Amino acid sequence: MINRFNNIDSKEWLPYQKSWFKFTTDEDLFRKSIRFFMKFDSEEMDRNFFFWGNPEQDKIAKNCALEEAAHFFSGDKLNNASQLQFALLDVRGMMEQVVDEQSWQKLKAQILNLAAQLKEKLYHRRFLSIIIPNLQTEDHYFPLAWDLAKTLSATLSLKDEKIGCMEIPESTASQNHFHTDNQLFYQLFFRTDEKSGTQESTEDFGFLKHQRLPDFQHKGLFPSWFILKPKPRNRKEILHPAKFPEELVNLYLDVFTREKDLVLDPMCGTGSTVVAAIAKNRNTVGIELSEFFSKIASERCHSVYHQNPNLFEKPIDRETFFKVINKDIREIDSADIGHLDYVFTSPPYWNMLNMKGAENQAKRVRRGLQVNYSDPESELGKLDLGNMDSYEEFLDELEKIYNHLFELLKPGAVMTIVVKNIKKHGSNYPFAWDLALRLMKKMILLPESFWLQDDISIAPYGFGNTFVSNTFHQYCLSFSKPLTP
Ligand SMILES: C[S@@+](CC[C@H](N)C(=O)[O-])C[C@H]1O[C@@H](n2cnc3c(N)ncnc32)[C@H](O)[C@@H]1O
Repeated sequence: MINRFNNIDSKEWLPYQKSWFKFTTDEDLFRKSIRFFMKFDSEEMDRNFFFWGNPEQDKIAKNCALEEAAHFFSGDKLNNASQLQFALLDVRGMMEQVVDEQSWQKLKAQILNLAAQLKEKLYHRRFLSIIIPNLQTEDHYFPLAWDLAKTLSATLSLKDEKIGCMEIPESTASQNHFHTDNQLFYQLFFRTDEKSGTQESTEDFGFLKHQRLPDFQHKGLFPSWFILKPKPRNRKEILHPAKFPEELVNLYLDVFTREKDLVLDPMCGTGSTVVAAIAKNRNTVGIELSEFFSKIASERCHSVYHQNPNLFEKPIDRETFFKVINKDIREIDSADIGHLDYVFTSPPYWNMLNMKGAENQAKRVRRGLQVNYSDPESELGKLDLGNMDSYEEFLDELEKIYNHLFELLKPGAVMTIVVKNIKKHGSNYPFAWDLALRLMKKMILLPESFWLQDDISIAPYGFGNTFVSNTFHQYCLSFSKPLTP
């Protein structure tokens, strides 16, 4: 097969497609990016590469480029390059200047201005990549990477993202706070192509007027990325197309809840949240639209309960201790469940399960397993959020549902939502960011964590033609209800 995109073979190509990586050195990061995004023996394109970073990184990037036989341009030398195959902007070193909204707007304007010039210089369908973290200050959290990505996607096609993960340094691991900052950054990928827009984004995310982060000092350290080794799913659990592991729920229950707290999962599927909560002696309610899945959830709950007879203090009122309710979540008020200490949940990822031909779907069909939550044509299917065709209407509906749950949360309590960004028919729908930016109007966004998957084989999407990652990272977005309205 002819490789029209770069000069690397499949052994190098496939690992690069994993949507997260462990960061080692700047040199490794720059070199891998240059080797992936440049074709050195092209007859149609000059081997021109542009880099923007701090002076130290500039030197490293220059060395990598020269060793890989690329022509290097940086800073104010952009005008010297006729056209570019690849541009890399590394903003990490500039984050120290960002302390408030004003300083961010200044840096953002600089990046947008440079990106506009780069757009004119890049060959058609070639990439601009930006390395940028979100920002945690002492008492605020600003999702600057998402802000930049959303703004820039009005003029360039936002194609992909990778998460750069750093080992947790010993010094911070011993400290006692909710989140150790600087453990991860984003590598964003934009492309000049037929879908690149021409409009300046006028959207105002308004999140820099964000509320102070709550004090989680007492909660202990929480990692910003983690890899789980969950136990294999049993015969019943595998019937659900998108179950998350109890090991994931446990991490969060330990941080955000205490014994006897009331934990809700409003779309509980096979009941993973509820099962994990029972085993930790929490009161818990799961709501699920599908009768089929809610029965599985209920059976699993009873089984955990009976396996752990010594878990609970007497007297036990089992009915209030755990409940799985087969209902549309929009009917939650009729269930009268009381005030919540914590919500842990994962919604349908829009209508992705109805996308025929997706790798995962094909495998499930071959095994005779259900591929979606309900038949979109059935009465039940019309209430299933996973069958909504319009992305905007789906987001509107979820926003309404979660805002209603916020009303039921106790002040200071937290809601954690597991989601991911979605690629569909060559377009990118940053579901995690869109949802977070909407919910931030009422709730305080806590630093995100990533559940990284390391046990799935990599599919060669785009091989020889373009970059398409395999999305192996799930966002765990946590929001805290302000203590005072
Ligand atoms: C991502 S799955 C949850 C999986 C679950 N966390 C588990 O581990 O099994 C989303 C669930 O939302 C349910 N759902 C969709 N629309 C709903 C609605 N309107 N009300 C309640 N549940 C709904 C689906 O049936 C599906 O089981």
